Amino acid sequence: MQKKIETVQTLLDALPFIKQFNKEIVVIKYGGSAQETPQLKEKFAEDILLMYLVGIRPVVVHGGGRQINEMLDALKLESKFIDGQRVTSKEVMRIVEMVLSGEINKEIASLLNSHGAKAIGISGKDAHFITAKAKDFAKFGLTGNITDVKADVVLNLIDEGFIPVIAPIAAGEELGHPGFNINADLCASFVAKAIGANKIIFLTDTAGVLNNNKELFSSLTKDEIEVLKADGTIHGGMVPKVDACLEAVDGGVKKAHIIDGRIEHSLLLELFTSAGVGTEIVA
Ligand SMILES: Nc1ncnc2c1ncn2[C@@H]1O[C@H](COP(=O)(O)OP(=O)(O)OP(=O)(O)O)[C@@H](O)[C@H]1O
Ligand SMILES: [Mg+2]
Repeated sequence: MQKKIETVQTLLDALPFIKQFNKEIVVIKYGGSAQETPQLKEKFAEDILLMYLVGIRPVVVHGGGRQINEMLDALKLESKFIDGQRVTSKEVMRIVEMVLSGEINKEIASLLNSHGAKAIGISGKDAHFITAKAKDFAKFGLTGNITDVKADVVLNLIDEGFIPVIAPIAAGEELGHPGFNINADLCASFVAKAIGANKIIFLTDTAGVLNNNKELFSSLTKDEIEVLKADGTIHGGMVPKVDACLEAVDGGVKKAHIIDGRIEHSLLLELFTSAGVGTEIVA
């Protein structure tokens, strides 16, 4: 009996948060580095489904950096990064698309669907809903900067009860263009801004943003982030992630969070408990 009362209490504790987020869009960036084990993937799917069933409208944008590197290694192609962003040759672009759109996107959609969701996997090439131009072709090749997100494509899916699962690939503007590889963090933020998301949550493989003693910053502002980037405390893949957080909050998303995707149910902890986890970035 005591156990049952505790279960009811847990539900009641979540009630204010369930009310607060009812019908709100929440974008979840599911980092390649958080997609570690089959168990974690299952927990992720359960969390997304629970969010959906209590009235939140989740949109998943996934990465796949680790998986792309593994495939490039297997094919004896080099993985090159500048400031945490991949240098994408034409050859690498083919692999990026195969891994992101072909493998990971379908895996996540099918995982959610096997849990009873109506998930639909797309990339920016579908309906050309994300377009981009080269960031700096000479330096980064086919790594792109987003020029436009057609929000209605995503909003129509949401209105029909689908959970969109988005691979971070954009269409190029000219006929026959191979498309652009977009940093998944920035892709998530641009989508979140365009569709008027209430919140964006980045699931990654660290507790959040850490200082040089590996201690967590529970909250960061734009000015603090600039200092940490300049002195190298924030480097590599964390650079586009904090930039993406700032992009989102500057663009009207209420909150951006970087949380530990290696912890089971960290999404639910973030959404439905008052003790927030990870690093929160405020406008
Ligand atoms: N100050 C910092 N605090 C925490 N992590 C940091 C910091 N500076 C750099 N990092 C690195 O950033 C990494 C997270 O970014 P990374 O791009 O590797 O993962 P992801 O974005 O979750 O996955 P993907 O790129 O596949 O979507 C961490 O694993 C860590 O090595
Ligand atoms: Mg990354």
